[in-house]
Amino acid sequence: MTTTVRQLLDKKGRDVFTVRPDQSVYEALTLMADKNIGAVLVTDEQGVPAGIFSERDYARKVILLNKSSRETPVSEVMTAKLISASPDQTVRQCMQLASEKHIRHLPVINEEGALEGMLSIGDLVKAVLDEQASTIEQLENYIASG
Ligand SMILES: NC(=O)c1ccc[n+]([C@@H]2O[C@H](COP(=O)([O-])OP(=O)(O)OC[C@H]3O[C@@H](n4cnc5c(N)ncnc54)[C@H](O)[C@@H]3O)[C@@H](O)[C@H]2O)c1
Repeated sequence: MTTTVRQLLDKKGRDVFTVRPDQSVYEALTLMADKNIGAVLVTDEQGVPAGIFSERDYARKVILLNKSSRETPVSEVMTAKLISASPDQTVRQCMQLASEKHIRHLPVINEEGALEGMLSIGDLVKAVLDEQASTIEQLENYIASG
């Protein structure tokens, strides 16, 4: 069984929590706390992704540099270089990408450049475990019927 990003999003949903680049770090953290998530996508007025802001960005670029979260705009501390996944990729490819690039969140962007969803490392681990469990079950059934 090979699960694609599209199939995973069908189950997980396609809502993406976003902030604008000129919103404060404090506002981004408030949204992250409200939604119980570790990162928000940063999008411009047209909804085009401009970057991502994660708990790691906060730790390294705000706290350690003694910046004020209420006065610092997200644009100043976000990661502008986005690493994304496409709907046709498999969850295994995404897990490999996340592992290689040391990232925990992958925005999903389709061929037209439109945002389709957001996957976290937790979503990917769960999907791969589900995939393996179903393969084992199929093999057990095959062995039992033989
Ligand atoms: N059992 C599950 O299905 C499942 C899935 C994901 C995470 N988790 C658990 O949650 C904890 C934290 O997870 P994490 O480190 O993977 O990341 P996380 O806390 O950022 O993500 C939690 C969930 O929120 C979603 N999410 C995160 N940012 C989002 C955004 N900006 N827009 C829309 N959705 C967003 C993710 O896709 C994921 O489903 C871990 O303990 C993990 O095991 C469980």
